[in-house]
Amino acid sequence: MLPYTPIRECVKRNVPMPLSPCHLSSETSPCHLKSDSPWQALQCDLNRAVEGALEVVGSQLNAHGVRVDLLREDSLPPALGDSVRLEEVVINLAVNAMQALDRTGKEDKRIVLATRAENKKVVLEVRDNATGVTDTYRDRIFDPFFTTKGAEGGMGLGLPIVEAIVAAFKGNIVVLNNEMGGATFKVELPADGINN
Ligand SMILES: Nc1ncnc2c1ncn2[C@@H]1O[C@H](COP(=O)(O)OP(=O)(O)OP(=O)(O)O)[C@@H](O)[C@H]1O
Ligand SMILES: [Mg+2]
Repeated sequence: MLPYTPIRECVKRNVPMPLSPCHLSSETSPCHLKSDSPWQALQCDLNRAVEGALEVVGSQLNAHGVRVDLLREDSLPPALGDSVRLEEVVINLAVNAMQALDRTGKEDKRIVLATRAENKKVVLEVRDNATGVTDTYRDRIFDPFFTTKGAEGGMGLGLPIVEAIVAAFKGNIVVLNNEMGGATFKVELPADGINN
């Protein structure tokens, strides 16, 4: 039995995800979390976060005809973070990738979920073969309420929340265009037991 989380419940019921109370503070922007994180960084298994995310959105990805390839490094050092929040990160990035793929209308839809240790960090990459991120809006995609999914009801809050979570654990996120023609979101988190 999976542990209950509001995110799991919303995905199951296909209703919008709630924001955590800190995201709803009067500061309005989730980015204020960067300065004063209320979350404790604990040892987390990033591979397990990927698995947990797939338990939540795997069937949806499948229903949308997306092939998911897992490139997980075994014996990954633990990341310093929060397992539920890291799962939330993977879910948001995977759903964005799925939505980007849906918009292409292509048959060969692919998402790669990769983990590895790199330069004293633990790295997660979510890669897709959609269209990538154009220069016109690359600088804005992490801004709260920036969305290109107006018609589909996007709120433009997924990536700011992801960025805030990653920053709260002293990590970093960047977006790159990849050799499949799509986007790669690369998340780096401090690894526990390694002098960062
Ligand atoms: N994998 C991707 N490929 C191409 N563009 C992307 C990808 N992921 C995000 N984007 C762009 O970044 C924008 C912001 O993403 P974000 O997750 O913050 O909001 P949203 O998905 O539009 O809405 P919400 O997540 O609140 O439902 C998207 O509208 C889209 O234009
Ligand atoms: Mg989104």
